[in-house]
Amino acid sequence: MHIISLYNIKGGVGKTAACVNFAYMAAADGFRTLLWDLDPQGAASFYYGAQPTVKSSTKKILEQSVPIQEAIHPTAYTDLDIIPADLSARKLDVMLEATGSVKKQFKNLLKGVADEYDFVFVDCPPGVSHVADNVFFASEVVLMPVIPTTLSIRTYDQVKQYFADKGIEDSKLSCFFSMVDTRKKMHTETIEALLADNRFFGHYIPYLSEIERMGIRNAPVGVYAPNGYAATCYRALWDEIKEGVL
Ligand SMILES: Nc1ncnc2c1ncn2[C@@H]1O[C@H](COP(=O)(O)OP(=O)(O)OP(=O)(O)O)[C@@H](O)[C@H]1O
Ligand SMILES: [Mg+2]
Repeated sequence: MHIISLYNIKGGVGKTAACVNFAYMAAADGFRTLLWDLDPQGAASFYYGAQPTVKSSTKKILEQSVPIQEAIHPTAYTDLDIIPADLSARKLDVMLEATGSVKKQFKNLLKGVADEYDFVFVDCPPGVSHVADNVFFASEVVLMPVIPTTLSIRTYDQVKQYFADKGIEDSKLSCFFSMVDTRKKMHTETIEALLADNRFFGHYIPYLSEIERMGIRNAPVGVYAPNGYAATCYRALWDEIKEGVL
């Protein structure tokens, strides 16, 4: 089972859009796939039309008063399940701290479904937290979307420093460019500078209104525009990521 988390300290960079589309594509490839929505905003759950049935499920999974299997919902798509977000996830950080061993809970919980899934995608909330530490520890790949601007370079350096400070394996961190506008000089110059750092995938996700429409269509782009440019870009990037993992 490969655990891939979508993360950035910064909000609004395309984490959820990527998580939703990669999970859809992994399932379309025939891999048994689980998406765990850890962001109390619940955007990934919204795109899949999923709502938790167990009250405060994130809290209960963590407390182990509910087995993780009970929080898993099927989606409308073959081979794709989801653990929807719920508002109890707001308090995850405090809960993790209270349970002592703040790094290992998610990894241990996911071991319970290791035989059932080939891929687990985790959609993280932005920011630095015990939740993020836990997810980093559990993940094989921490995938960070980076909008190619000066401010994002700073964020990127902060995340690398955070990994170093926390003793998290540096090789787990992989990045891709997100919301790229190649008409902007700053974007092309930043991409060129950062590509020298071999942590970045060659394929990237452009800024496309077809992706924004996910909120109206309530679905991954592969569902409502399977032959469009957005789906092509996510597919090319997912294939590149997959190749590195399998
Ligand atoms: N490549 C893109 N082109 C155009 N719009 C995009 C693209 N990627 C994401 N968006 C839109 O930008 C907004 C933010 O994207 P998304 O929710 O994926 O970011 P996020 O990093 O998960 O945000 P948060 O930190 O709030 O969880 C959404 O409205 C989404 O539809
Ligand atoms: Mg998000």
